[in-house]
Amino acid sequence: MPTSMVVALDGPAASGKGTLARLISDQYTFAHLDTGTLYRGVAWLVLEAGDDPMDHDVAAAAALDYAVEKIAGADIRTSEVGAAASVVAANAEVRAALLDFQRRFAGCPPNRVGGAVLDGRDIGTVVCPDATVKFFVTASPRVRAHRRWLELAPARPELTEADVYKDLLERDERDAARDNAPMTAADDAELLDTTHLSIDAAFAAARRVIDGVFRRCG
Ligand code: DC
Repeated sequence: MPTSMVVALDGPAASGKGTLARLISDQYTFAHLDTGTLYRGVAWLVLEAGDDPMDHDVAAAAALDYAVEKIAGADIRTSEVGAAASVVAANAEVRAALLDFQRRFAGCPPNRVGGAVLDGRDIGTVVCPDATVKFFVTASPRVRAHRRWLELAPARPELTEADVYKDLLERDERDAARDNAPMTAADDAELLDTTHLSIDAAFAAARRVIDGVFRRCG
C-alpha cells in the first residue's frame, strides 16, 4: 500500500502520457518514474551484448542484474530499442525483477517528496493498484504515429511515417495481448483521449481530475 500520493498513467506509445507525467510531476512536486525506461534499459543491455530479446533466460538475467548506471549514456529512445523493450516486457521474469523497484519508488519517492507519478502500461492494474489517481491516456493510432514520427525523424530522415505506424501497431498488439500485466485500463482509471487535445488541454483535464481527488482525500 503506497504511503504517498500516487498518480498512475498508463497507455500506449505516443499517447502523451510521458509528457503529462512530467507536467504533473512539476505541478505537484512529485517524483516521476518513466517505467518504460526500465524495459528499454533491459532491452538495450540484451541488444548491446549481441543477444536476442526473445531469449527468455538472457532477458531475465539482464533484468535481475539491471542498474541504471549500466545504461548511462545509452540511446534507449530508438525504435529498435522500443521494439525490443516490448519483447522483453512480455517475459514474466523480467517483469517480476522490475516490480519491486517500481513499488518502492511509488511508496517511498526519492527526496522525501509527497508523491510519485509513474507512467507505463500496468501501473494502475499491477504496480500500484491502490494509486490515488489513475489515468488511461490514449489517442488514435494515426495521431500517435504522426507524433512519434515527428520525434524520431530529425535523427532518422529515412524513416517514413508508414514505418512508424506499422511498428506502433505491432507494439500495441504485443503489449496488449501478452499474458503478464497486459496494457489495459484499470476499472477505476479516468480515460483521457488526447487525439484532438493539445498538451495544454490534456494537462488541464488531468489537473481537474487530480485536484478533485486530492480535495476529497483532504
Ligand atoms: O513507454 P515506452 O515506449 O518507453 O515503453 C517501452 C516498452 O516497455 C513498451 O512497448 C512496453 C513496455 N512497458 C511495459 O510493458 N510496462 C510498463 N509499465 C512500461 C513499459
